[in-house]
Amino acid sequence: MNTNPIGFFDSGIGGISIWKKVTTLLPNENTIYLADSKNAPYGQKSKQQIIDLSCKNTELLLQKGAKIIVVACNTATTNAIGYLRKKYNVPFIGIEPAIKPAALQSKTKKIGILATKGTLNSSLFSEKVLQYSDIEILEQIGEGLVPLIENGNINSAELTNLLHNYLDNLLQKNIDYLVLGCSHYPFLWQKIENYIGKKIKIIDSGEAVARQTKAILSKYNLLNLTNKKSTHKLYSNTNTSVLKMFVKNCKNVVVDKLEF
Ligand code: DGL
Repeated sequence: MNTNPIGFFDSGIGGISIWKKVTTLLPNENTIYLADSKNAPYGQKSKQQIIDLSCKNTELLLQKGAKIIVVACNTATTNAIGYLRKKYNVPFIGIEPAIKPAALQSKTKKIGILATKGTLNSSLFSEKVLQYSDIEILEQIGEGLVPLIENGNINSAELTNLLHNYLDNLLQKNIDYLVLGCSHYPFLWQKIENYIGKKIKIIDSGEAVARQTKAILSKYNLLNLTNKKSTHKLYSNTNTSVLKMFVKNCKNVVVDKLEF
């Protein structure tokens, strides 16, 4: 069981930002990653549709022997993780927008969050926001960004214009932290920083998720302690070229197309 893989899923290549942090912290671990690009974006779907897609992905990961599942998608976590935890007998790690560290460190008491409609409208997210009544949390839906990132063309004028419009809305409000609440957005980190400058701190959840994955594997005695080279199997249900591009410098990775 300990040599079994960690399973990951996302609505596409976004969760690779999380997968990279996890595999860096846990280099012994084997992994399987499902990029459900065929159904991207999840952020515009209903809660029930997100639950159904999350179940489909989970079942495939379990069939492939996943010992733990990282829901490498804020939208799927905030809409479906409670359901997944009740239905399946495997530990789940979720990702949620990193409101807490931003709220604790903000001096202006105003933080921005860029995320999908599905995440911002979820009850899990609303409950979280209520915990920080002394902080103004300015929400911005990043509609349209995910499909453009999925196309692999991060530097297109279309994506840049859209992103700048969304950031302008937040910049007017004197925020000092910007939370990236979608696993696709860390791929825009440099573009965002170039535009908003270094005075506003950008924050995401990748490292926290990696630490939590390690803690839960350790708690259940599931850490892979062998010294064998790890293997990483990444599957996309559409064209694999963008996924390949995003992992081109990673070792021991096999990228394949799979129907799911
Ligand atoms: N990458 C996902 C997230 O973290 C979902 C984006 C989408 O499919 O809309 O929210």
